[in-house]
Amino acid sequence: MASGSGSNFEALVHACRDGRLLAEVALLVVNNPGCSAQQRAKRLAVPCQVLNHRSMASREALDQALVTTFQSAGVDFLVMAGWMRVVTPTLINAFPDRLINIHPSLLPSFRGLDAVGQALAAGVTLAGCTAHLVCEEVDAGRILVQAAVPVLATDDHASLSARIQRQEHRILPLAVALACQG
Ligand code: GAR
Repeated sequence: MASGSGSNFEALVHACRDGRLLAEVALLVVNNPGCSAQQRAKRLAVPCQVLNHRSMASREALDQALVTTFQSAGVDFLVMAGWMRVVTPTLINAFPDRLINIHPSLLPSFRGLDAVGQALAAGVTLAGCTAHLVCEEVDAGRILVQAAVPVLATDDHASLSARIQRQEHRILPLAVALACQG
């Protein structure tokens, strides 16, 4: 599941294809038509479906559409790889302990939007990323893997985000493997 650039989606596809992760990325769902993630899926020959939240009556309606889509595709594990929508029990309860999220902070610090901006504003010297199970509370489920990233004096939002993302691409496949092993 992706909303924007899709670099974490692509990292997962490569991890599966080069044997680091014994899984297959069966389907990408995006909520923003034309987003870069959709183009990556085309280039990588991964099936992609658009579920536009703007045409759904509620968060639950979007999540029910996700459940139906993933169940009919035979998907048994979900990754929110830059999915910028709050999810509801409709989705969470359909895939218990099989729904994970990647977030660009060392949780429980800097939940919610623009975690990198929050970290820079707080003046922390260590930022990072967290892969975690998804529960109803936003950015709060059980932590699976974290990576710490030093904040350099020369960093701006773009440079710190780029270094954090490199670590996201490393820990996300590991988190999928750990979660699948229970
Ligand atoms: C990632 O950095 C991810 O941590 C963040 O969105 C980015 C998506 O990048 N997710 C959140 O902030 C969720 N709260 P990508 O589309 O290139 O994978």
